[in-house]
Amino acid sequence: MLTSDLLTRAVELLRRGGVIALPTETVYGLAANAEDELAVRRVFAIKGRPATHPLIVHVANAGELASWARHVPEEAQRLAEAFWPGPLTLVLPRSPRATDAVTGGQDTVALRVPQHPVARAVLDALGGGVAAPSANRFGRVSPTTAEHVRADLGADVDLVLEGGPCTVGVESTIVDLSQGEPAVLRPGGLAVEEVERVLGRPVPVRTSSSVRVSGSLASHYAPRAGVVLSEPGEVASRVEALRAQGQRVGVLGPPGLRLPSDVPRYDVPEEPSGAARVLYTRLREADARGHDVLVACLPRAEGLGIAVRDRLARAAAPRPPET
Ligand code: TXA
Ligand code: MG
Repeated sequence: MLTSDLLTRAVELLRRGGVIALPTETVYGLAANAEDELAVRRVFAIKGRPATHPLIVHVANAGELASWARHVPEEAQRLAEAFWPGPLTLVLPRSPRATDAVTGGQDTVALRVPQHPVARAVLDALGGGVAAPSANRFGRVSPTTAEHVRADLGADVDLVLEGGPCTVGVESTIVDLSQGEPAVLRPGGLAVEEVERVLGRPVPVRTSSSVRVSGSLASHYAPRAGVVLSEPGEVASRVEALRAQGQRVGVLGPPGLRLPSDVPRYDVPEEPSGAARVLYTRLREADARGHDVLVACLPRAEGLGIAVRDRLARAAAPRPPET
């Protein structure tokens, strides 16, 4: 998948201030050298994201923590050992290496060691930190294939590295350890229960913190169709009511749902981690069909089901007018 020529080119581009799309196990990222302020600004420009929203710095291994964070709490060390490389991001007090351009001027920095072999190869060869938000336009659904990236941003990036479909499918779980008491700022690809197991205590999910987590804006991860949330037992009646109003309805949910045969369906496995893996692809497929409303069946609120419910709730939230 990743030839040595491509790897060399990717690293060269990053060293010279380029912006590339990079596969990770969660979603594809829009990557720039975290220590190159101009390159980081280009990432914000390409995404159309407000410059005050901080980016995650991706590093090759947990040994890098100490150079980006000025203090590494013992609990951060424990989580890093248990889950890196993997879909976990730690928010820590920043060191001077983490610039204002990356942190949005905050006194903390978000750090992650991704697990995807292509991302790891690039980080190993670069030797530094890579600032990478998800490679989608601000507020839209994150990309989980190189095709998605090309459709969204193709012409604007210097290189799109191919890495196959993302195996996790939703963004990393963000744990804030900068305040003493740990908190989850964004449920994601690592189950909150796993974080609690390793820390040996309950960890609250605080998605509406004062910190600027762009995924915590009410409307985010939004497809173009309106999204209506439904528990499994109510999907059929919702569909019937919406159709009676003349709406073109599609259904996102497990294949077992009993629905009229002419309702377009976007199947997601009932098992939460399977649902996470295909969620964004199905949302894009539904968008391409042009429904007025997508009825989304909520998975169980456990494991990765918490992240899937979170993303669906944001997709269903009222949207600001298009600008
Ligand atoms: O799985 C992921 O995390 C993917 C892949 C590419 O690694 N990246 C990703 O990046 O989702 P992005 O920028 O779309 O979301 C990162 C989130 C944002 O909501 C941002 O506000 C938050 O991390 N964040 C970054 N630095 C932070 C900080 N210092 N304190 C609190 N939140 C922070
Ligand atoms: Mg994002």
